[in-house]
Amino acid sequence: MGDPAAHGLPAPAHVLDAVEHALERSRAYTDAQGLAAARDAIAAYYHHRGLALRPSDIHLGNGVSELVPLARQALLNPGDEVLLPAPGYPLWAASVQLAGGVPVYYRCDERQGWQPDADHLRDRITARTVALVTNTPHNPTGAVWNAATLRTLADIARSRELLLMAEEIYAHITYDAEHTVLAALAPDVPCVTFSGLSKICCIPGFRSAWMAVSGPRAATHAYTEAVTQLASLRLCPNVPAQHAIPPALASIHRTQNDLTGHAGPLRERLNTAWEALSDIPTLTCARPRGAFYLFPCITSAAALPHDSTVADTLLRDHGVLVAPGSDFHLTSGDHIRLSALAEPATIDEAMERIAHHFDTSIATPRSRH
Ligand SMILES: Cc1ncc(COP(=O)(O)O)c(C=O)c1O
Repeated sequence: MGDPAAHGLPAPAHVLDAVEHALERSRAYTDAQGLAAARDAIAAYYHHRGLALRPSDIHLGNGVSELVPLARQALLNPGDEVLLPAPGYPLWAASVQLAGGVPVYYRCDERQGWQPDADHLRDRITARTVALVTNTPHNPTGAVWNAATLRTLADIARSRELLLMAEEIYAHITYDAEHTVLAALAPDVPCVTFSGLSKICCIPGFRSAWMAVSGPRAATHAYTEAVTQLASLRLCPNVPAQHAIPPALASIHRTQNDLTGHAGPLRERLNTAWEALSDIPTLTCARPRGAFYLFPCITSAAALPHDSTVADTLLRDHGVLVAPGSDFHLTSGDHIRLSALAEPATIDEAMERIAHHFDTSIATPRSRH
């Protein structure tokens, strides 16, 4: 699973101290949008990343998992269609459906390192399409979408009048690749950017996250009103976790380097998994450039069991937890998602068991692609 804290990855000590020292000051409700100091820190952070925001454009929440459904509910009428990447994180489709909308999937192309296929996306737009969800770095593939592709997606949103919804929770988990803030590429296009501290500071249990609405105010005003009303229903997000945001963002580049730099544990663990995976002939995998997942394809000359059966067998017979690609709306049924967060020795052991499973259960591999 994608929980860095559960695998002992460290949180920045000064962030934990800041929250501890803020406990007494955290007893009252805050503004429904969240603490001013935290929203100021988020606005300053995006300013450095090329996006101008006012603190009033920012809503804090109890995890991106709370804000995504709220953002969909504020937007969708029954039958409205939302474009989602496939493969993609299951929260997006569930939240669209929960708000009465219809998920419509556009392809991310494995042969292109899982970059989104803009032509396929264009073909999927109908008169009912209202929003386009992006996600970089990408769960489950670890792809970092390049700036040129993101510009193309922003152009499509601009010309077809779609709201961009940019999921960027892995923004600072990259390996020799640059994350681009989509909204900064297209300040004239209405965009909601989601991010938080769960992954980039290894504190998912704090439930500390935000969404930021950018673009022409005339176009976003009514939407922001709806978001504000919905956010008010839950009074405010958990307050101690909001105090983590200013110190976390002030030191984000140091934290990023500690986790993903050359000696960083996230890089070491991903490399360990990648190297072991490369030795399993039945699995082929595009090298991840971000996040902490690998998304190999199972290639075999023989008829393959569906990926959900593979995942069941790996868990039941070998004690290894992977997620089937079909859980991420990939219909081919031949992928599994591995998370590379465990200690290297545990990853080695798990990969040996996976290799053993494929050695003994699947016939000669067909050519790699
Ligand atoms: C793409 C993506 N978005 C959101 C989340 C959950 O974020 P949060 O902890 O802020 O609710 C995850 C967790 O795995 C994720 O992979």
